[in-house]
Amino acid sequence: MKISLVATPAAELSVDALAVPVATGQSLSGPALDLDRAMGGVLSDMVSNAEFRGRIHEVLPVPGQQGVAPRRVILYGLGALHDLDGQRLRSAHHELIRASRTYGYRRIGLLRTEPLTMDSLKAVVEGCVLGTFERRSRQTGPHPERREIDELVLVGFGLGREQEVVAAQENGEATNRAREWQNAPPNELTPDALAQEAIRIAQRHNMEWEVLGPTELKAGGYNLLLGVALGSAQPPRLVRLRHRGDNRGLPPEAGNPVLALIGKGITFDTGGISLKKPEHMSQMKADMAGAAAVLSAIDVIASRKVPLDVMAVIATTENMVGPSAQRPGDVVVSADGKTVEILNTDAEGRLVLADALTHALRSGATHIIDLATLTGAATIAIGHGASAGVGNDDDFWSLVEDASREAGDRVWRLPIYPDYRVLLRSQIADLRNSEYGEAGTILGGMFIGEFAGGKPWAHIDIAASSWNTNAELTTVLRGPSGAGTRLCIELAERMAGAER
Ligand code: BES
Ligand code: MN
Ligand code: ZN
Repeated sequence: MKISLVATPAAELSVDALAVPVATGQSLSGPALDLDRAMGGVLSDMVSNAEFRGRIHEVLPVPGQQGVAPRRVILYGLGALHDLDGQRLRSAHHELIRASRTYGYRRIGLLRTEPLTMDSLKAVVEGCVLGTFERRSRQTGPHPERREIDELVLVGFGLGREQEVVAAQENGEATNRAREWQNAPPNELTPDALAQEAIRIAQRHNMEWEVLGPTELKAGGYNLLLGVALGSAQPPRLVRLRHRGDNRGLPPEAGNPVLALIGKGITFDTGGISLKKPEHMSQMKADMAGAAAVLSAIDVIASRKVPLDVMAVIATTENMVGPSAQRPGDVVVSADGKTVEILNTDAEGRLVLADALTHALRSGATHIIDLATLTGAATIAIGHGASAGVGNDDDFWSLVEDASREAGDRVWRLPIYPDYRVLLRSQIADLRNSEYGEAGTILGGMFIGEFAGGKPWAHIDIAASSWNTNAELTTVLRGPSGAGTRLCIELAERMAGAER
């Protein structure tokens, strides 16, 4: 989708359809009202008769009139203004593009008018790009006609903002790439295939990279990752990409931060010997959504040459059942020397991440954010509308929170209570990998935090936010969402001081 900025008056824009945003309870104003007058008042008529109410995801095409250039005008809803945050704003534009595609429009315009501000450019573009996502089909035989939008013309956002448009388009496309990886069948996207994707990204940007296989993992003592991989015929991989951004925008007192983006890359999670029920297993091809987000993010960070040292680390393996699979009751020594009792082989994410954090610290990480489809409890706690986070450092967390807001990629922080540490205690080892009962999302995070080496660390549980299975929840992206991708990009940019 080509995206351009113009200053043409709305009535003179020759497009298949011109989209006009409306919030609930608001009437048309400014350039929307000018367009309405040129159309003989049909738009304001539909709004004042409440045929169009401006509810979020409401999209209504109206035939263009004699004397105006757009063939159609699409009224689209933003919902109530006091409900509008970055995520809903993107969702509204996602829906606008989905609808426009079903109507077969190829060249569409989008009119910036109240209540959209000049600042909304990024959210508008990102949301529209998200709406172009189409999962790659593996169906044989004749395909139904694919309806794509060729060009999006942005009216009234000012001129000379091409760089912002390009950046937002990259963010949207990176999110879509993560969504596509999430959706890839697990027999295609194996741990090694995921590592190969990472290498391709590294080579594209001339980044340093490293892929550890079983031999190197044994030498480094990464037994938690190796333990999860025992039941699988696929060799595990611990992948690290390094973007040298040289921190040139930072004041000397900032030290020399190295941000590690760490992703859980379980390409299929059967649960292992603590086997999942079939109904909980079918979606487990997407248990690598954290790795997908992190890889997509560093791809953008490197291509944009963000002036911050950033590494991406992904721990990738399958969690399968087999004669060599690890057992509930096994005790394994982590890469940093802690003993861990495996009480539930289905709590595998925290195991592979623990070793990934150790690897990041050994490679010089000073700040850590990990993204993981870690706990089903995240859905119970917060639902699909946001990621659940925990962290050990208020200053670092406030950066994460600001990045989340700016990226329209929601995160809600849960507390870490020292009282809960006892719930990680094992009878015979330093830690156990699961407890049964309360605070599942917090404890999953707390387990990982034990491996952060006291560095500022944030854990983002995307189990719920990365894949919305709730059909009633229509304003949250359905299926794979690429959650965390834009969060990581934004976080790196904020830490680099690129955004002021
Ligand atoms: N990958 C799952 C978590 C998950 C559940 C992701 C639903 C996406 C949707 C994770 O490995 C897991 O199995 N977690 C267990 C942890 C428990 C055994 C402590 C869970 O949530 O049941
Ligand atoms: Mn599991
Ligand atoms: Zn898992």
